[in-house]
Amino acid sequence: MVQFSLNGKTVTVNVTPDTPLLWVLRDHLGLTGTKFGCGVSLCRACTVHLDGAATPSCVLPISAVAGHKITTIEGLGGPVAQAVQTAWDKIQVPQCGYCQSGQVMAATALLTQKAAPTDADIDAAMQGNLCRCGTYPRIRQAIHEAAQHLGEKA
Ligand code: FES
Ligand code: FES
Repeated sequence: MVQFSLNGKTVTVNVTPDTPLLWVLRDHLGLTGTKFGCGVSLCRACTVHLDGAATPSCVLPISAVAGHKITTIEGLGGPVAQAVQTAWDKIQVPQCGYCQSGQVMAATALLTQKAAPTDADIDAAMQGNLCRCGTYPRIRQAIHEAAQHLGEKA
């Protein structure tokens, strides 16, 4: 049995300790917003927040999550996440959409840590999140848009 916080609620799951978090989220808890891409920590389609940090969930054993705080795309909230989602809509970032929940999770973690990231900051934070459709320029533009919006509100 492993207990952890998921999107603000305490959950307990009965799985083997080496089960990847991604499997627990999708197959045991029905949260399919977090995507399976490669399964070997190479694409970051499966990004969640582990205690606020963007983390691939496909290689994270559930035993490592015990007592920690996990947020998935379904539980994302607050002003930063809202600004990111608004900017994503405005810039029309997604193409096929498959990588996008991971991109939004990574962008939200970045903007929570760094209110006004440079292009270099964005590239460094987002470089692990692959997009087969090549939406990288729009992702960068949307992160700047969200940062500007948050700066105006501050
Ligand atoms: S599915 Fe996790 S990094 Fe690709
Ligand atoms: S939008 Fe298609 S893989 Fe990124």
